[in-house]
Amino acid sequence: MAINAPTGFNDMLPDQALFWNDFQATAARVFGRYGYVTIQTPIMEQTDLFVRGIGEATDVVSKEMFSAFSGANLETLLGGGTVKAKNRMSLRPEGTAGVVRAVVQHDLVPQGAAPAKLMYAGPMFRAERVQKGRLRQFHQVGVECLGAEAPTVDAEAIIMLMRFFAEVGIPADAMTLLINSMGCESCRPAYRDAVKAYMDEHASQLCETCLTRAEVNPLRAFDCKNEDCAAVMDGAPRITDHLCPDCKAHYAQVKELLDGAGVTYVEDSKLVRGLDYYTRTVFEVQVDNGLGSQNAIGGGGRYDKLAAEVGGRNTPGLGFALGYERCLLALQAAGVEMPKAGSCDLFVSVVESAGQAPAFALVQQVRDAGFSAEMDHQGRSVKSQFKLANKLGARFIVTLGPDELAAGQATLRNMETHEEVTIPFDQIASCL
Ligand code: HAM
Repeated sequence: MAINAPTGFNDMLPDQALFWNDFQATAARVFGRYGYVTIQTPIMEQTDLFVRGIGEATDVVSKEMFSAFSGANLETLLGGGTVKAKNRMSLRPEGTAGVVRAVVQHDLVPQGAAPAKLMYAGPMFRAERVQKGRLRQFHQVGVECLGAEAPTVDAEAIIMLMRFFAEVGIPADAMTLLINSMGCESCRPAYRDAVKAYMDEHASQLCETCLTRAEVNPLRAFDCKNEDCAAVMDGAPRITDHLCPDCKAHYAQVKELLDGAGVTYVEDSKLVRGLDYYTRTVFEVQVDNGLGSQNAIGGGGRYDKLAAEVGGRNTPGLGFALGYERCLLALQAAGVEMPKAGSCDLFVSVVESAGQAPAFALVQQVRDAGFSAEMDHQGRSVKSQFKLANKLGARFIVTLGPDELAAGQATLRNMETHEEVTIPFDQIASCL
């Protein structure tokens, strides 16, 4: 029986791979204008990094990590033994924790230095229930800015995110930008207590999971998809009513800067995001059509405590990540035409087998001149060579028959305009 790819792990077929390359190139171009440079971190990190960085109580860490053990360690584990922390590894469920680990490890933001502005692109892994727009291996482009806590960093990143979506072709009216502030360690604990007290009051209306959330991490209940829980959480205390003066001022300045830049947003005090490292500004971009419940195409926020959490000195940070697969779905839903992989400037067809060797030499010559060229490799008739040329989208076609071979020249046909010119073989490339 044929073996297929595991559920939720998709092949990126040529058209999609082309879009992934374009997506990364657009990101590098747009983010480069804002000073971002590329970093690549490993696909696998110590599990503890994600536990400490993302938070043990998050779904991502508690349920969705793919962990891996080398042969000997797996045997130890299966035999009931324990494996040292440095040998417990997981595939990265997101990019932020790894980038912050790298910043700390290589001291990329020495005290007093300008912020490090880093971008990355690559596969992420989460063992989620697979559905449209929700995969187990998916691809993100992300940015992280470490070393500055000014609201200008938050506003700049959000503006840059919206510029990226515009440049990639997602229509502005198909998206909604949601923003919120999650407060800081001085105002959030009291807020968390207020939410917990509210949830305790409404315990009889909450699902089992939310009852556990109330104990471990009450704010996660804002993400519950259960309709009863959602209705209860609609009436829960709002973080924006509990922000300390500093967080309130920071949030107000972010909004002011966005207003000044003409960025439209919706304040959503229930936006808490699924990862525990966030402080202050959080944001998410959702598309209104075509993606069902998995409608977030990108999101991020500030994480001023994460560097310290993973063992570094206090270094404020902020970033976001975009989901490539969801952006692709959003573009398709908006009817945007996607580029097709493969190009063919010239197709060289042959009438009989004597033409094969000259055709072979001609396609090499044209390729060496910097054009894409193709010929038949399967003994097709002239008619089906023309069909193949059409399928490949050839811009020009030339046919080598006995007369052409004898004269050393052939008729070059422009497939779009149907214009024809007869020229020597060695001048064909100059007419493409
Ligand atoms: P996130 O919201 O978990 O944030 O993921 C960012 C984006 O990745 C989502 O908006 C979505 O488009 C895409 N995504 C997430 N999970 C899946 C999935 N299972 N299948 C397909 N696409 C998915 C983060 O990952 C943070 N690291 C963002 C960040 C950077 N915050 C600060 N810096």
